[in-house]
Amino acid sequence: MGDKKVTLKLDNVSKVFAKVESDEVTHALYNVNATMESGEFISLVGPSGCGKSTILRLVAGLIMPTLGKVTVDGKEIEGPEPNRGMVFQKPTLFPWLTVERNIAFSLEMQGKLKGNEDKVERMLKVIGLERFKDDYPAQLSGGMAQRVALVRSLINEPEILLLDEPLGALDAFTRMNMQDEILSMWADTKQLALMVTHDVDEAIYMGTRVLVMDANPGRIVANIKIDEAFPRDRSSAQFVEYRNEILNKLHFGGKHNA
Ligand SMILES: Nc1ncnc2c1ncn2[C@@H]1O[C@H](COP(=O)(O)OP(=O)(O)OP(=O)(O)O)[C@@H](O)[C@H]1O
Ligand SMILES: [Mg+2]
Repeated sequence: MGDKKVTLKLDNVSKVFAKVESDEVTHALYNVNATMESGEFISLVGPSGCGKSTILRLVAGLIMPTLGKVTVDGKEIEGPEPNRGMVFQKPTLFPWLTVERNIAFSLEMQGKLKGNEDKVERMLKVIGLERFKDDYPAQLSGGMAQRVALVRSLINEPEILLLDEPLGALDAFTRMNMQDEILSMWADTKQLALMVTHDVDEAIYMGTRVLVMDANPGRIVANIKIDEAFPRDRSSAQFVEYRNEILNKLHFGGKHNA
């Protein structure tokens, strides 16, 4: 993964989308500022439509800001690159390729597969799917497919890993296992990870920092550093305190916090 450290910056970023049915516009993001660097695991939480995916798509280079700048080490992002890998909520595997070939796909596309076959092997091992390497995506469970999608991105050794609700579709047990798997992969590489989640506990369990967002216009309303060693204890007093703090910011504080 190299020791290259990167700094990602959102500098007064606004993103406006035109609405098809009227003259109005959507302020998906309004004046967003944030700085993040390698070694951080940033969780993004907030209500539907507050611009979480928009932030990820900007960083991935899939869309451009209307105003402001998104930079990596001072250089403006101009388009997608393998070193900014994205994992979408629904696993986007190629149905006509086996598990092994799905994982190898981007190396193959870049003409880098030769000499890197062992990497594909290692990824299969990491996700415990060696026995399934010749299966096709349709033969996998949702959790298995999501693991394949994850390592398919990780194999590029991205400097910035973008995760858009990567665990949203999983059952509670698979989900908790996957949280630990992602964390252990991240602990190995310490790249910058940026993960969207609807689950406040997941955000705290995995994040070194939680950015809380709100909608209309989309913006960051709180930046909470999770100052605890891994692995986190979901039932610790500190954890519960973080949870309350974040729920309050999301206006779900409940009566006792009013
Ligand atoms: N391509 C687009 N064209 C028009 N409007 C868009 C487009 N992409 C996003 N939007 C609008 O921008 C706002 C933010 O969208 P975004 O997808 O970033 O939200 P989100 O926080 O990821 O929501 P969710 O939690 O539901 O995934 C929404 O109001 C959405 O309708
Ligand atoms: Mg989204």
